[in-house]
Amino acid sequence: MTGAIQVRCLQTIGDREIQGLSDVLIDCVEGGASVSFMLPMSRAKAEAYWHRMSASVARGERVVLVAEDAAGAIVGTVTVILDQPENQPHRGEIAKMLVHRGVRRQGVGAALLAAAERSALSAGKTLLVLDTASDDAERLYARQGWQRCGQIPHYALLPNGTPSATTIFFKLLGS
Ligand SMILES: CC(C)(COP(=O)(O)OP(=O)(O)OC[C@H]1O[C@@H](n2cnc3c(N)ncnc32)[C@H](O)[C@@H]1OP(=O)(O)O)[C@@H](O)C(=O)NCCC(=O)NCCS
Repeated sequence: MTGAIQVRCLQTIGDREIQGLSDVLIDCVEGGASVSFMLPMSRAKAEAYWHRMSASVARGERVVLVAEDAAGAIVGTVTVILDQPENQPHRGEIAKMLVHRGVRRQGVGAALLAAAERSALSAGKTLLVLDTASDDAERLYARQGWQRCGQIPHYALLPNGTPSATTIFFKLLGS
């Protein structure tokens, strides 16, 4: 990854971070990413989502990491969901792996994923799971040692309304 981009874990998500995270989310949805949102993607929807996530981070339910450029602008993000049922305390989930189209294919996604795995491990997680509808993301996860389980057809809609399959992955940490 280019040395100008740094990954850090957000202890709190304030207004500045909500703006930057919303910029990245809007760019990814407008680029066709299947990450829970439909077109048209508004700033209000993006900000409302990150406000909810800010409260969830404050409750200790999840960790949000960001990649920032040399000027401090947020260009990518990933979430580790820590909060699980009491019989799965060792399991976490990766969600909202998003890199702005302007900085893709420079290793930002790989750096975010590695940092998310380290955060999960330090929070006591030994198993991570995720699902993805992106071929680009599938290659990223496979390259970093994730195990592909299979595909569920017609799982969700792409932002333009087209049905899409999702692929399930897991990774055992620390073994
Ligand atoms: C999936 C996603 C996060 C990947 O982010 P990224 O920052 O481009 O990821 P990386 O740069 O680590 O890897 C992407 C590619 O660039 C290549 N690459 C990395 N560094 C490079 C460099 N310095 N020079 C040339 N190529 C490079 C990687 O080998 C990889 O190649 P591949 O596509 O042939 O497998 C990004 O495409 C994205 O945000 N997609 C939309 C949102 C989405 O669908 N997220 C998944 C939800 S689960």
